[in-house]
Amino acid sequence: MATKIPKLRAAEETGAAPVTGFLPRLNAVAADIEKLLDRLLGPQVAEAETARPVRLMEAMRYASLGGGKRLRPFLVVETAALFQVRRERALMVGAALECVHCYSLAHDDLPAMDNDALRRGQPTVHKKFDEATAILAGDGLLTFAFDILSRPETHPSAAVRIALVNLLARAAGLGGMVGGQMLDLAAEGRFAAGPLTLDEGEVTTLQAMKTGALLRFGCLAGATLGEASAEKREALDQYGSALGRAFQIADDLLDVEGDAAMVGKSTGKDAAAGKATLVGVLGPAEAKARLKTLVTQAEAALAPFGRDGAVLKEAAHFVAERRA
Ligand code: IPE
Ligand code: IPE
Ligand code: MG
Ligand code: MG
Ligand code: MG
Repeated sequence: MATKIPKLRAAEETGAAPVTGFLPRLNAVAADIEKLLDRLLGPQVAEAETARPVRLMEAMRYASLGGGKRLRPFLVVETAALFQVRRERALMVGAALECVHCYSLAHDDLPAMDNDALRRGQPTVHKKFDEATAILAGDGLLTFAFDILSRPETHPSAAVRIALVNLLARAAGLGGMVGGQMLDLAAEGRFAAGPLTLDEGEVTTLQAMKTGALLRFGCLAGATLGEASAEKREALDQYGSALGRAFQIADDLLDVEGDAAMVGKSTGKDAAAGKATLVGVLGPAEAKARLKTLVTQAEAALAPFGRDGAVLKEAAHFVAERRA
């Protein structure tokens, strides 16, 4: 006799809370991004390219495939979904953003930067290959991001594509991530007699640049793809900025309290290196209190989206509570 399976009813019908499911949705984006990057970084030369040197291509693939939470592409996909943007387009922008992120990790790990041997549970790119190859793989990924953004399949409107190119260039460069990395190394005392003493405001600026800028881009990209109203764009800007600040505080807490096997990268190095962190300035307890405030701010920013903002609210909690 066949077992009778009760019919699943919609949340509206049962009056239950809507199923938002952050983790399944993050995993779905991760799987789609893996497939897309695997295809884009394949051996087939693109129009106007001459050849794809195998060693460079392998290092770029090593740096970008098979790991990572893919939180940045998730932000692009889920903020774009608020405006009913086609998922394939948001994934292209997510893939471009992930290329910039993976390049930043490959360079961040270099001996001249943070000198790390472990990333995403694997040897860092310069350990697996060599320093010159890791530098070139980073260069290749950064450049590739703009190749992806400029393609018509990213968005049919050239004006939207140019806006994305401009936004990513500014998030990634001098006044964004790269600028923040410079401030990070300067704070260590690399270019002075000893470590600099940064106050809370200065550390906040440094972190908004080195980490916040790319996460914020992820949220603004959704608004750009969706040609959002000024009000909704501003809301996503606020959300992305709060999330970005929370993300680096959580990262700095993991350096102090996390375990390398779980985090997939070395821990316990920031204080010894003289890194400027809010955990260092405020202490772990106060840093955790800041995290809570930032999650509340991120959630509040999503008010204009009503129930559609649910999965992004869950993402803010995930960022603050993550153990990897
Ligand atoms: C690590 O970013 C680098 C920082 C900005 C702190 P993630 O924690 O998002 O790294 P992956 O992509 O999941 O490996
Ligand atoms: C890195 O910050 C931010 C980047 C731009 C890559 P960290 O140096 O703290 O990142 P992890 O801890 O190495 O991932
Ligand atoms: Mg660093
Ligand atoms: Mg580092
Ligand atoms: Mg860190």
